[in-house]
Amino acid sequence: MQVRSATKMDLPEILEIYNQVLRDSTAIYDNEPSSLAEREEWFDGRVRDGFPILVAEQDSSILGFSSYGAWRGRWGYRYTVEHSVHVHVSHRGTGVGRALLSPLIEMARAAGMHVMIGGIDAENLNSIRFHERLGFVQVGCAKEVARKFDRWLDLVTMQLTLDDGAGLRA
Ligand SMILES: CC(C)(COP(=O)(O)OP(=O)(O)OC[C@H]1O[C@@H](n2cnc3c(N)ncnc32)[C@H](O)[C@@H]1OP(=O)(O)O)[C@@H](O)C(=O)NCCC(=O)NCCS
Repeated sequence: MQVRSATKMDLPEILEIYNQVLRDSTAIYDNEPSSLAEREEWFDGRVRDGFPILVAEQDSSILGFSSYGAWRGRWGYRYTVEHSVHVHVSHRGTGVGRALLSPLIEMARAAGMHVMIGGIDAENLNSIRFHERLGFVQVGCAKEVARKFDRWLDLVTMQLTLDDGAGLRA
């Protein structure tokens, strides 16, 4: 398996993984499937803002992807990023998620980011355990802020502090 920067050629497979997660789980709080045009818009936005998208590839197939972007838009939040990571349903629990998130964390650190945040549905215990294994800690839980599949959903916030914050920053 190889982890590399995504290209637009990867978007159809990224879309397929994204839509499976969206359709079958509460990990993405959306109801309508995404489109290739939307994924292209997302890709272009990440490139424009200088944020990475990584894919894990094996035998010319995309097994998963990870990315981060701004957590919030206001100026004061500029050293905090929010990430996402999704692995193809047939390849979970085999180390692909770790292979995608570990280098993303290093990229955020190298880019001078201070905090990485993940917003995780409270039912998604796999993802909560996964993030704990990678050093994230739970810092909040917003109750019943989303609704999908006819039930209220709680959003857990997990964060990884990337450095001691002592470095010089404007
Ligand atoms: C959550 C997800 C990204 C994790 O990726 P993964 O490839 O399945 O996880 P990995 O195999 O790389 O596991 C990495 C670590 O997490 C732990 N972990 C993963 N799944 C776990 C589970 N179900 N229960 C307990 N621990 C788990 C593993 O023990 C492993 O720790 P180790 O390397 O120290 O042994 C992946 O399962 C996924 O895409 N799920 C569906 C979509 C989703 O929930 N995305 C995240 C939204 S916040």
